[in-house]
Amino acid sequence: MDLLIKCKTRVQQTIKPMLKNLAEPQPNLGIGAGGDPIKRIDLAAEGAIADVLEEQDVSFTLVSEESGIKRYGSNPGENFVTTDPIDGTTNLLRGIPFYATSIAVSTEPTMSTVHTALVEDLVHCTTYTAEKGKGAHRNGCRITSSNTESLKQAVIGIDLNTYKVKEIAPRLTNLIQSVRHIRHLGANALEICHVADGTADAFIDIRGKLRTTDIAAAYLITTETDAEMTTPQGKPLEAELSPTQKIAFIVTANRKIRENIVDLLEG
Ligand code: IPD
Ligand code: CA
Repeated sequence: MDLLIKCKTRVQQTIKPMLKNLAEPQPNLGIGAGGDPIKRIDLAAEGAIADVLEEQDVSFTLVSEESGIKRYGSNPGENFVTTDPIDGTTNLLRGIPFYATSIAVSTEPTMSTVHTALVEDLVHCTTYTAEKGKGAHRNGCRITSSNTESLKQAVIGIDLNTYKVKEIAPRLTNLIQSVRHIRHLGANALEICHVADGTADAFIDIRGKLRTTDIAAAYLITTETDAEMTTPQGKPLEAELSPTQKIAFIVTANRKIRENIVDLLEG
């Protein structure tokens, strides 16, 4: 965890001067391993994380949304470091104050073996952390998810961004009709952490578009509270950690709200 804190601090230091130049034309750096255009700031954040780990002589396999899979040190199979260096790049580039960095460490490239995780809210400098079996924390204080069960009172994030909307939207109609407070803030890792700490009550992304690199860290932070991350049918979630592995999921603050949501989701 100390190393992950160093990594996120280096990301903060690295991107700080770059935030002043966002209005300047950005170079075309091609398409990242996750399929989206690479931005200079994404690459700089990824480099900051890899640099810290290399300086500390860590052997690891980097699994990143930007550069894909890269091996470092003499025994790269020892640690898998899965990162979305910037989650919410569009928010960052537009000046919408909601974006994060996400780093997860696992023994295998699988979600269930993530044992140490950090998501940093880069705007508010809020640090979400979790170590397997030791609970989840925000700025060092233990967090718990909400016990809200009623959909009328719940605040629920729903991602309907840019993908198969004609297929996905009808599956959500019953749920949307039952919920009074719907949000989408544009950085899914952070929105999942908001369910873990009780700020929101659920987050739903059934598009099957999000990469597992984006949510590996938030997965452990969530599951170290009473919140759950499951398939849209409410079944346990397991997935390969890879920049091309996509996932559909729901994150729910407690069992009862999960059941209420699953009952209303079509398909
Ligand atoms: C994006 C954010 C956004 C979601 C997009 C993701 P990125 O992550 O999480 O909320 O709707 O699908 O791609 O691209 O900024 O890392
Ligand atoms: Ca990203």
